[in-house]
Amino acid sequence: MKHLLSINDLSKVDAISILDTAEKLARVSDGPMKKLPTLRGRTIVNLFAEDSTRTRISFEAAAKRLSADVINFSAKGSSVSKGESLKDTAQTLQAMGADAVIVRHSASGAAQRLADLEWMSGSVINAGDGTHEHPSQALLDAFTIRKHLAKGADDLTGLRVAIVGDVLHSRVARSNVLLLTKLGAHVTLVSPPTLLPVGVSSWPVDIAYDFDSLLESVDVVMMLRIQLERMSDLFFPNAREYSRYFGLTKDRLQKLKPGAIVMHPGPMNRGLEITADAADSARSVIVEQVTNGVSVRMAILYLLLAGSAGEIAL
Ligand code: NCD
Repeated sequence: MKHLLSINDLSKVDAISILDTAEKLARVSDGPMKKLPTLRGRTIVNLFAEDSTRTRISFEAAAKRLSADVINFSAKGSSVSKGESLKDTAQTLQAMGADAVIVRHSASGAAQRLADLEWMSGSVINAGDGTHEHPSQALLDAFTIRKHLAKGADDLTGLRVAIVGDVLHSRVARSNVLLLTKLGAHVTLVSPPTLLPVGVSSWPVDIAYDFDSLLESVDVVMMLRIQLERMSDLFFPNAREYSRYFGLTKDRLQKLKPGAIVMHPGPMNRGLEITADAADSARSVIVEQVTNGVSVRMAILYLLLAGSAGEIAL
């Protein structure tokens, strides 16, 4: 495999191998020697044409723990703000000898376009393209769910996951639906009808409009950020109304079954899709998702750039 553009690029076996590799690499991160020499001499470029905190820092930490050189490139302060196209920017980076380009862009399909360029010799990793996909986020979410709830199984068979909120604008939701169902989980989308995409009825999921009806049966509640920056229209009456029906509140939190976990990819709109009590509760694994993101991204870089996981000497 050369690129990671979509969860559709991965078979179930590939996905499990990334999760297993991440588990081995997490042990490295926990140990006293955080660095592996695997990618010494390789150059990885973080090309972020859209805001990001976690994903960019996480890929940077992952690359550095594998001893790669990292070039951080953000649209602000670069020629992208002078109107230079993504293609020209990428060509410049390629000319500097990038072995991998990690790209975030507001246009759906941006990562695919880079990968399709004839002269693009490095690997392209999609770190979020518009409302389309965010595969490394889904992999770190699956890793986190597996760690808490899979009871020794290597996949997520039998687990029930509710993905709640702004599905329409969420690349995290799209990648998670593809990955979690591939790994055997049962996914229900919970959202007002206005925030569901056209064609959602063909997705391999159930759809619910009543969040309360699911609270006692799900193992995982994955909250989505309301993506105000992608909304040109009014999708719900007001914030209070939204929270009342679709927010994870203290009351709802208390109705979850024992052992159920609460997730959110960040950044959170506290008080809108999730209250502070829920975000900071003992059931919340939100901070742990960030930690796991580094190991999972190490695994992705490892498998794309260094070959099979069998080589990891631990
Ligand atoms: C997500 C993203 O950018 O798609 N965040 C992230 O990568 N941690 C989700 C979001 O912005 O809501």
